[in-house]
Amino acid sequence: MDFRHQILPSSGLSSLNVDALLVVVAGDTLDAGFDARLSAPIEEAMAQGDFQLKAGRTLYLHRPQGIRVPRVAVTAAASATPKAFKTALAKGFALLKDTGARTVGVVLVGGEVDASHAEALVAASLDATYVYRHTKPSAPANAAITTVVLVTDKLHAKVAQLGLLRGQAIGNGVTLAREWANRPANHCTPSLLADEARALAKRHDLKVEVFDRKAIEKLGMGSFLAVSQGSEEPPRFIVLRYQGAAKSKAPIVLVGKGVTFDTGGISIKPAAEMDEMKFDMGGAASVLGTLRAVAELKPKVNVVGIIPACENMPDGRSLKPGDVVTSLSGQTIEVLNTDAEGRLLLCDALTYAERFKPAAVVDIATLTGACVIALGNHRSGLFTADEALASELIDAGQAGLDPCWRMPLDEEYDEGLKSNFADMANVGPRAGGAITAAMFLRRFTGNYRWAHLDIAGTAWKSGASKGGTGRPVSLLTHYVLSQAG
Ligand code: BES
Ligand code: MN
Ligand code: ZN
Repeated sequence: MDFRHQILPSSGLSSLNVDALLVVVAGDTLDAGFDARLSAPIEEAMAQGDFQLKAGRTLYLHRPQGIRVPRVAVTAAASATPKAFKTALAKGFALLKDTGARTVGVVLVGGEVDASHAEALVAASLDATYVYRHTKPSAPANAAITTVVLVTDKLHAKVAQLGLLRGQAIGNGVTLAREWANRPANHCTPSLLADEARALAKRHDLKVEVFDRKAIEKLGMGSFLAVSQGSEEPPRFIVLRYQGAAKSKAPIVLVGKGVTFDTGGISIKPAAEMDEMKFDMGGAASVLGTLRAVAELKPKVNVVGIIPACENMPDGRSLKPGDVVTSLSGQTIEVLNTDAEGRLLLCDALTYAERFKPAAVVDIATLTGACVIALGNHRSGLFTADEALASELIDAGQAGLDPCWRMPLDEEYDEGLKSNFADMANVGPRAGGAITAAMFLRRFTGNYRWAHLDIAGTAWKSGASKGGTGRPVSLLTHYVLSQAG
């Protein structure tokens, strides 16, 4: 069943025909103009100490008097910003999740709804209702909630509608990225990723090219191939193209790490939580998701998505510590640790990107555990020497509620990559590991503006709600939209 979002320009709650109302109250006082039939029970609950206007607090009202809607969930938001709105919505949807509500009306009290609020609502409701079923068909076919209606005043209905459309396109991209990150490695091989890219291209009028092992050899991607050589699963090099502007316009190139499973190779990882390394293609998934969102929104800009995809496995034919490989750029690399494989794929893809004469190249990768230590799970690591590109990406993350944080790229960090046996080693010292990884990539960036996003901490959630997040599709889509004419 299709999930639906609508805008309802309305002056009051009386006309609302929904199963549940989700009321987000922003700030620390209840707007005097708010419908008295609801403000009365809310105020009564506050007087009795059952509810407070403090971010995170919720209140459930069943059949409040005088209102047609049978269920009302009230959630407090710190402020009326889209970010606070989204956080409060997540609480509200959680409250309604196990009720019989199928259609939910959403009202913001104490603030005005604009495009970003509508976008945030779509993100929050998709987040609350996504169900992974690919290898768990017994899971409910769809979440109970099927329709979400955002109530706005008549003045804001138009902008809200625009935000809704943007939110839906981004939401579809986020869900796609999330879904593929969740699929186990035996259901998400390089070949299956390539099939998905082809299907996406067909449905959304994109151009697609898929290179197999032979073609990758012919291109000369010795570094990428070296990682894949220990796996029975053949590698794929995927190139997707969206053309929304004149052919002559330089494209934005997105490069996504597509390691469909990372055992570490001969430098094998410990068993605990190794299963989570099925999401090591999160960068690739975010490239697919972003191209899907962009293809739906049709901005006047050109975008190329590049995905080097393979497995990193230990085997008789595997890459060994100390092996020296020759990258597409001609530079040689001493592989001191086969678990630092992401950069070995990305370096060849970054060299390949040069042929598009890009306006900018952004690579996206679950690259280092060190980045998770540095930034945790809230912000992706952003590395770039280009000031303008840095602020464009930071702004895009802010606007898309998918934030990143800039990290340094000082020359001094490059020293750790020295090797006696090749142009460079693939790892440096443990300290500052996310930065040396970025320094490694930098050696392969050609004559173009470049940024690197380390999403090791943000593309995946561990713990009870473990699974993909679909990040940073929102950041990337906002960035692409910001570059449209
Ligand atoms: N895919 C991992 C990075 C990773 C770790 C992502 C944890 C998400 C969660 C990457 O290929 C890797 O193994 N990196 C090594 C690099 C080290 C050997 C220099 C790491 O971070 O330990
Ligand atoms: Mn690894
Ligand atoms: Zn990896």
